[in-house]
This record gives sequence, structure tokens and C-alpha cells, in this order.
Amino acid sequence: MKAYRIAANRGLSSLTQVNQSPRTLGPNDVRVRMEASALNFRDLMIAEGQYGLPDDLAVTPGSDGAGVVTETGADVRRLKVGDRVLPAFWPDWIEGPISPFKTKRSFGADDHGTLAEELVSTESSFAIAPETLSPTQSASLPCAGVTAWNALFEAGGAKPGASILLLGTGGVSVWALQLAKAAGLRAIVTSSSEAKLKRASELGASETINYRKTPEWSNAVREITDGEGVDLVVEVGGAATIDQSLSSVRQGGTVVVIGARAGSNPGFQPSRLIGTAARLQGMMVGSRTMLDQLVAFVDRNRIMPAVDQVFPFEEAAEAFRFFKAADHFGKVAIVHRR
Ligand SMILES: NC(=O)c1ccc[n+]([C@@H]2O[C@H](COP(=O)([O-])OP(=O)(O)OC[C@H]3O[C@@H](n4cnc5c(N)ncnc54)[C@H](OP(=O)(O)O)[C@@H]3O)[C@@H](O)[C@H]2O)c1
Repeated sequence: MKAYRIAANRGLSSLTQVNQSPRTLGPNDVRVRMEASALNFRDLMIAEGQYGLPDDLAVTPGSDGAGVVTETGADVRRLKVGDRVLPAFWPDWIEGPISPFKTKRSFGADDHGTLAEELVSTESSFAIAPETLSPTQSASLPCAGVTAWNALFEAGGAKPGASILLLGTGGVSVWALQLAKAAGLRAIVTSSSEAKLKRASELGASETINYRKTPEWSNAVREITDGEGVDLVVEVGGAATIDQSLSSVRQGGTVVVIGARAGSNPGFQPSRLIGTAARLQGMMVGSRTMLDQLVAFVDRNRIMPAVDQVFPFEEAAEAFRFFKAADHFGKVAIVHRR
């Protein structure tokens, strides 16, 4: 079977296609023919030396994906051949609170990931895919979708009617926008691009701010919220945006710290945290149970994930280059078979 490999820390040019022999199934394993996958910033970080993996690691990238079960191990009971499934980001985090054991391995970093013709893992590490979506549409639920779900409803604890702030229009933020809209939350979205802000409005953003034209965007957030600030910030920018995020959150609100998409640190001021008495909450994607809940929510609310571009499997390198340029809105997907 064909699979891609990327050498950790050696750049995108290290992406190659290999032919590898199929893995033998253990009694609790299922074999899944991958139909689609989707890219995340983490996949770039691994290639470009920002993820702390050893230099000698060559891994099949990808944690977002969708496929169909083609074979089951002797003790498999929950899944059957023909089931459409999604791999959970952490194969061992099925339910309950996070723990070091549950987050010891993940697809696309410590285990081979989704950018391959097939994926073999324990049946418990797969969720049933949404009935209402194609594989290309559902491929981004496991990482980007679950991250947004956890950030809003679990780690973020958003209550009905909450106001939230979303930074930029990448995969996690657009997922969060779509979930927030379906849940009736008030979502303010920032972006560097007027065209992307228009798309965010069409998807249900209540207000938008261009963070290039308004570098002190927390002032705009406060104006929009009558001086109060938002209940929740989904913080994907990191060191370069955290200070503005803390200036955007209301007193006693929450900033869920997720990523570092925006680069280096202009200075974090602890006094802002003291002044807002806000909660800074870190998180790492989520459990398979959260993926199950997300699937049900997506089906019930007929959410169509925003997939910006779809590339064929043979053009994965082109997909990575497009993703790195960050011109996308929402997700970049790869279809494995037409
Ligand atoms: N902790 C976790 O569980 C977890 C899970 C998933 C992802 N992450 C992290 O979350 C971050 C986002 O991931 P992703 O896959 O959604 O990334 P992505 O799709 O690559 O996001 C790209 C977008 O980030 C936005 N951006 C860049 N600089 C920004 C800034 N200064 N202010 C606001 N937005 C900015 C841009 O939006 P515009 O083009 O609209 O300006 C850009 O298009 C990454 O750091 C990733 O590693 C963490």
C-alpha cells in the first residue's frame, strides 16, 4: 500500500511516497481504507522542526482523515466491514479527563497517520463518521473539529448565549465559528483579509475585525461588547496574540490557549491576567467521546465543514505548499480516491 512519509525537522521537501507492506491485524484492530485526509498546522510544525520530535523520525503525516473499514480482527465487536469511520487524534484517549497515558501517542506524530492508503489501529480508536457528510467533508473532524468542540464546550465551558472571539480563519477557528453558530453563540472573528472576513460573516460571524488594519484589536472587541469583553477567546495565535486576547476577555472570562500560529512573542503581561481575573486554560485536541459527540452534533445541525481546496492524493506535496501559504479559509483536504 502507498503511504507518505515526512522526516521530522527536515522540511516539506522531505515528503516522499513509499510502498509499504500492509500491517498484520491484532485481535482488536481494524483495517481502514483511507478515503480522505486533511492538513493541520501541526503537520507543518513536525516537518519544520517546531514539534520537538527526534531528527531520525520518518512518519506518515496526518491526524485528520476519514475511511471505511475493510477488515476486522478476531475480537472486534463494535465495528464491522463497510463502516465509515474517523480516527480519533489520540488512539488511547477514549473518554474521561486527559492523562499522560491517554496522550502518549497520536496519529501523524508518534504513530503513522492518515496520509496513506490504509490505517490500522484498535477499533476503540475510531468513531463512526457522520451520515450527512462525504469523506472529504468529514476528514477534518478528528483534529480541527474536536479541538474547536473542546475549546468551546469542554475546556472553554461556553454557556448558552456566550460571546466568543475567534482569531483568524484557519481550520480550528472556522470549525469553532460553525459550531458556535449552530449553538447560538455570538462569534466575533478576526482576519488579515477582508475577503475572508466576508466569508466568516456569511458563515454566521456576528462581527468581524481586520487584525492587520486594527493591530490593537482588543479595543474593537471591547467596543463591540459594550466595554465588557467576550466570555471566551479561542487563542490559536500564541505568544504574539495572547496579550491582545487577554485584553479582549471579560473579567472572570476564559482564554483557551490552543496554538502558536502567529509566531514570536512581543511580550506577555501578567498584569493583564491579574486585572481580568481570567482563566487561562490549555488543551490538547480531545477524546474519542468528544469526537462521537461532535459527529452527532454535526449530523443533527447539518453542519457542512468549510473545505477550501481539495487535492488528489498524488499531489499531497502541492497541498502542503498551498496550506503553508495560509491563503486558505477553513480546511485543506486530500482525497485519496475519486
Ligand atoms: N492544542 C490543540 O489541541 C491544538 C489542536 C489543533 C491546532 N492547534 C494549533 O492551533 C493553531 C491553529 O491551527 P490550524 O490548523 O487551524 O491552523 P491554520 O489553518 O494553518 O491557520 C491559519 C490561519 O491562522 C491565522 N493567523 C495567523 N496569524 C494570525 C494572527 N496574528 N492573528 C490571528 N490569526 C492569525 C491566519 O488567518 P487569516 O488568514 O484569516 O488572517 C491563517 O490563515 C496552530 O498553532 C496549531 O498548532 C492546537
